Amino acid sequence: MTQDTLSRRSILIAGATLLAASPLKALAQGAGPAVHVMKDPNCGCCSAWIEILENDGFAVTTEPSAGTRLMRYKADNGIPQEMVSCHTARVEGYMIEGHVPVADIRRLLDQRPDAVGLAVPDMPYGSPGMGPEDQREAYDVYLILRNGSTKVFSRYDAA
Ligand code: CU
Ligand code: CU
Repeated sequence: MTQDTLSRRSILIAGATLLAASPLKALAQGAGPAVHVMKDPNCGCCSAWIEILENDGFAVTTEPSAGTRLMRYKADNGIPQEMVSCHTARVEGYMIEGHVPVADIRRLLDQRPDAVGLAVPDMPYGSPGMGPEDQREAYDVYLILRNGSTKVFSRYDAA
């Protein structure tokens, strides 16, 4: 075997390995907007929220972060103290704090307001990733403006 066929063969093998690592389902799911999520690796509700985004076509990557490091990341990226939830995500230049519904993220990306992003403070029961929607408690999604003020972006009534 010549040097040339050897290297061509290893390229083929590398290609096959790449394909095996990314099943077709993941390729289809990853077609949407790229979302990068900072989350506590031990937080289950964050993973549940991520799964909802992935099922809706978002291409999600995650990075473990917790405690003061995560709190600093939120503050550095314009999330006001009273808007804080568990995970913090970034999508197309916008910050997404907490269990924000996919519909609101889509509307944000459609309307593209001059803003920091969206937040659902705390972790309301029945918000995406936080238990059954038919037992939802009322909560609001806030738009965080660049001056740190907020306004209601959408309201979700109690189920
Ligand atoms: Cu959570
Ligand atoms: Cu979370």
